[in-house]
Amino acid sequence: MKIVKNPEEMTRVASDLRAGGCGLALVPTMGALHQGHLSLVGLALEGGRRTVVSVFVNPTQFGPGEDFARYPRDLEKDAALLEKEGADVLFAPDAQGIYPEGFSTRISLPSFENVLCGPFRPGHFGGVATVCCVLFGIVRPDVAVFGRKDAQQLAVIRRMVADLRLGIGIVAAPIVREPDGLAMSSRNAYLTPDQRKEAPAIFRGISAAAALARLGAPSAVELRAAFEDEIGPGGILSIQYADLVDPSTMVPMDRLDRDGLFAVAVHAGKTRLIDNAVLRPGVGAVEV
Ligand code: PAF
Repeated sequence: MKIVKNPEEMTRVASDLRAGGCGLALVPTMGALHQGHLSLVGLALEGGRRTVVSVFVNPTQFGPGEDFARYPRDLEKDAALLEKEGADVLFAPDAQGIYPEGFSTRISLPSFENVLCGPFRPGHFGGVATVCCVLFGIVRPDVAVFGRKDAQQLAVIRRMVADLRLGIGIVAAPIVREPDGLAMSSRNAYLTPDQRKEAPAIFRGISAAAALARLGAPSAVELRAAFEDEIGPGGILSIQYADLVDPSTMVPMDRLDRDGLFAVAVHAGKTRLIDNAVLRPGVGAVEV
């Protein structure tokens, strides 16, 4: 596996990989890789595609007071995992490489930024969209792989790729969970032992909402109540939101009268965990 830090070199290497004719995939990450990321790499490599994995902790998607400075970074460990997984290139630019002097572009998708995580993380999705657009420009992949755990991010990227006609296929990877149901996340590393013990209640809450969906067409309020019952008041976990939205447009839904994304954000102390499932009335969870 090649490690590339310079964006211009990355563009040249990517062009050589694309010339092989097997297709080129990009897996954008912020590093601190876990099994969830490796499952994205596995999907990227399918069908013999050549695969670039980027590791870049993107400053423009963190707000003031968020965890940019303490976000876990371990490039050596990431490289070893990616090598083993069979990735072709690890692209690890620095901030100057992505945002050189004079960089002035900012992508924004206002209607996607006003729901779910948006109001709690102002500027976050603009930062994500902008860095992904830059990475797409550097690597020019045929496909890019994103996890369903970040469902709002996935919707933002799909919309941006469609609107800007970037011609990149977006592959959505299923959420990878710990045996007790907790969705894998680099931020799980922040949890204290007590918080970690409580955290599976998030998946239990989502499963309770899914069980309600199996019975019919519950309202958003009923789904939230089912979720709240599992989390309980005044404990280690506190709910930031538990909302039902259209899976593609992120427009809030009052009732599960068609497929809906039930998405939640929960605080365990300072650590913010997100999770979600796509629910179908009369069926339950169709994507978890
Ligand atoms: O999901 C992430 O790790 C980041 O938001 C991404 C897509 C790599 C952009 O920085």
